[in-house]
Amino acid sequence: MRIMVTGGAGFIGSNYVRYVLGAHSEDEVVCFDKLTYAGNLENLKDVEGDPRYSFVQGDICDEAAVAEVMARVDAVVNFAAETHVDRSIQSAGEFVDTDIKGLYVLLEAARARGIARFVHISTDEVYGSIAEGSFTEDAPFAPSSPYAASKAGGELMAQAYARTFGYQILVTRGSNTYGPYQYPEKVVPLFITNLLDNLKVPLYGDGLNVRDWLYVTDHCAGIDVVLQKGVLGEAYNLGGDKERTNLELTHTLLALLGKGEEMIKHVADRPGHDRRYSIATAKARALGWAPQMGFDEGMTRTVAWYREHEDWWRKIKDGSYKEYYRKMYANR
Ligand code: NAD
Ligand code: TYD
Repeated sequence: MRIMVTGGAGFIGSNYVRYVLGAHSEDEVVCFDKLTYAGNLENLKDVEGDPRYSFVQGDICDEAAVAEVMARVDAVVNFAAETHVDRSIQSAGEFVDTDIKGLYVLLEAARARGIARFVHISTDEVYGSIAEGSFTEDAPFAPSSPYAASKAGGELMAQAYARTFGYQILVTRGSNTYGPYQYPEKVVPLFITNLLDNLKVPLYGDGLNVRDWLYVTDHCAGIDVVLQKGVLGEAYNLGGDKERTNLELTHTLLALLGKGEEMIKHVADRPGHDRRYSIATAKARALGWAPQMGFDEGMTRTVAWYREHEDWWRKIKDGSYKEYYRKMYANR
């Protein structure tokens, strides 16, 4: 299979490119990425020389650029998105552009081209918060942030394409993902890199919000199974089944880095902060997938990776990121 991987230079996308090239010796990957602040070709340095890998810089909102690559592939996996909730609260425009319009452009090109397998990577955040129990795939959307609303909007467009044109794709809704190459604005790499620099970690609100942690290779394996075996027109939850409060997560990271409670800085809560995410995973498990990585083991490996790849994250944190961090945390 020749797969167009959009957003392949980001966190999960780059792990997925590596996963596919390793797992399927007959597959080829065309990585299509705009290289926004979150896209980084260093994430793919180790596969650059692979003859089954190629890279095209482009925007999924650009119809001509998308059509040109789609003419050369059999499948599409769409990771391209604006992804950070806090940034969507500061400015939602790019989220609407990429996460809704960009998906529309991809759907239109894929429909015209007759792409048989198209997996769109969505998120458990489309369901919103749940106090008890877990959302199944037929739960209604109730997004809280502009990010989640944009992801839900994209999915609704895909549902409309199925009903109106009979063009059916596959959707995965992953839970909070962590591991190597995650941009240090997200909580796990932000806290690890702050602690490595002996800086405090900004914990929002009372720290009792719950997230379900999924190790990135488990997320990639789930996407791969859905691409191979998923039923067209269906959505699949990919959850880690590792729910933790943010405070529990913070204590795990403090212990792994040999730091104490005094490194926690309690800061103002995020507006619209969802209390708890939880998704049922029976549907993806029925395809033969299950998350393999334990929470402690996954966090230990992730801390080790950031320790060993200081050059990777320091380049990011020393650049325009500084201005972002100042703005984001100035009034908290
Ligand atoms: P990321 O922010 O690390 O990477 C996003 C990538 O998309 C970057 O390489 C960026 O350059 C590229 N991109 C952005 N706009 C683009 C455009 N208009 N055209 C082409 N490329 C563009 O994101 P991530 O954390 O790897 O998330 C990947 C996908 O997985 C997203 O769709 C996200 O919604 C979804 N997801 C993420 C998580 C998580 O915890 N990180 C959980 C569930 C689902
Ligand atoms: P994040 O990594 O931004 O992912 P998402 O908002 O998509 O779940 O945040 C994960 C959790 O960590 C969320 O409940 C917000 C919290 N958080 C903090 O407490 N402090 C921070 O500095 C950040 C970035 C997040």
